[in-house]
Amino acid sequence: MQDKTHLVDEITGHRRMRRNRKADWTRRLVQENRLTVDDLIWPIFIVPGTGIVDPIAAMPGVNRMSVDKAVEAAKEAADLGIPAIATFPDIEMELRDETGSNSLVANNLINQTTAAIKKAVPDIGIITDVALDPFTSHGHDGILRDGEIVNDETVDQVVKAAILQADAGADIIAPSEMMDGRIGAIRRGLDAAGHQSVGIMSYATKFSSGFYGPYREAINTKGLLKGDKNSYYINPANGTEAIRDAALDVEEGADMLMVKPGLAYLDICWRVKEAFGLPTFAYQVSGEYSQIKAAAMNGWIDGERIMMETLLAFKRAGCDGILTYFAPEVAKILAKR
Ligand code: PBG
Repeated sequence: MQDKTHLVDEITGHRRMRRNRKADWTRRLVQENRLTVDDLIWPIFIVPGTGIVDPIAAMPGVNRMSVDKAVEAAKEAADLGIPAIATFPDIEMELRDETGSNSLVANNLINQTTAAIKKAVPDIGIITDVALDPFTSHGHDGILRDGEIVNDETVDQVVKAAILQADAGADIIAPSEMMDGRIGAIRRGLDAAGHQSVGIMSYATKFSSGFYGPYREAINTKGLLKGDKNSYYINPANGTEAIRDAALDVEEGADMLMVKPGLAYLDICWRVKEAFGLPTFAYQVSGEYSQIKAAAMNGWIDGERIMMETLLAFKRAGCDGILTYFAPEVAKILAKR
């Protein structure tokens, strides 16, 4: 006769977590979070010219595109059901200067892109960044004066750039340069210019992170950047400071909040969502994307599985959506399910 008394029974009694995991149907029934195409924002890189699709070495599968190709990509994204794209320009070196003056040119590359996409694909949302880094000769997000990134002067310029971006058709302005007071200033500037319906997605908690490396290669700021961004981005050690910074953005009128980078900052995602209840987004940044791609290309991990797992983790952490370079790849997979 077999002894039916097991030690585990004494410990767990009648409590058995595995009952709900026993079959595919129970697992589906109790699943708490789901990733859908509605959760995706696709960041894309723009270059001058026509007919250009230029692979970015540090981001396998991601290309710099000329405006005409970006329009095609936006069409594809809209057809897949992706709600919005976020555009980042890689402009000519000759156009970059100390103050990032090209950000104040009405038909600069980013605004040309917005206008062209809005005309051809009116139903996709366009989110534009107003940080100055694509436009400066030193790769910083603001105006550099005597070794310092000057706050208020940068905010004045960012407001003007935001109005031009809204004039071109941008639906949401997303300031990533972390200057103090920028959200309120942009809100007032947009309203005064008649852009009351243009939203603001604040890069509310942007950390001074090593995960941005491949992005700096993509828009060619890597070789330009002198020093670091520690005097304006948040120290990765500080969670409570990040929440205080986000609180100011909420007070100043942000419509949506973003946490950047994503996976290493899931605690911040959760705290931001809990604290403010605003639509909250994570930016799965370039370094996060490239790590997954590189390991997958080496056969060390199952890239698709980890892509889906990381994106679901953002949902579990309270995010309403994710900015991710995986967006079209994910949308295609979700469409097949
Ligand atoms: C700067 C900016 C950064 C990213 C987008 N805009 C960070 C930086 O270069 O310091 C990073 C995006 C990514 O890594 O995917 N305003």
